[in-house]
Amino acid sequence: MKKLFIAGNWKSNKTIAEAKEWAEKISISNGDSTIVIFAPFITLGALHPFPFGLGAQNVSEFPEGAYTGEVNARQIREVADWVIIGHSERRKYFNEADDMLQKKVDQAKKVGLKIIYCVPDDATIVPPGVDVVAYEPVWAIGTGKTDSPENAQAVVATIKAKTQVATAIYGGSVTPENVASFVSAPAIDGVLPGGASLDPEKFAALLRNVR
Ligand code: PGA
Repeated sequence: MKKLFIAGNWKSNKTIAEAKEWAEKISISNGDSTIVIFAPFITLGALHPFPFGLGAQNVSEFPEGAYTGEVNARQIREVADWVIIGHSERRKYFNEADDMLQKKVDQAKKVGLKIIYCVPDDATIVPPGVDVVAYEPVWAIGTGKTDSPENAQAVVATIKAKTQVATAIYGGSVTPENVASFVSAPAIDGVLPGGASLDPEKFAALLRNVR
């Protein structure tokens, strides 16, 4: 049975107190999946003691130095093993384009952060050396509409063949109800739920339903 990668993307949600409350409520019993929570920067330190992997949702394209307001890769490495780069919300609201995303990948790799790189289709550039590719069709994010498992399987298989990245996951309105249909597709190694990761009971149901 393939080892699944389940990544919760909290986006810009939860205070430190709310993050701790989530972590205290959730019971992670899915021993053979990798579970990583992509939490806001300010909550990462508080989540350290809990038994799931941690990731940041962004990284500076610059090293440490005079870049006011930026959080750099070395700082993130102290509190997390993973980072998401290329999410469609970063591309859309913060004008992050391929050249900037490449710099972010370079910064993350320099300090040994593992990378989930998000793409909206199988034609978008994936920089070499990323660890996981997430296929997330823009129209499926936060809309309650998903790609079909058949199409997601085809897109993910193409991405894997083109990029040589071994692990590829699907994101876009994944729920406890539909998660099994995605992870049972042979090329899809896991999922990236956003909305369904915010409530600990819902996320626990999603983890149960992957098998
Ligand atoms: P969603 O978000 O599950 O709320 O659609 C997924 C994502 O943006 O990573």
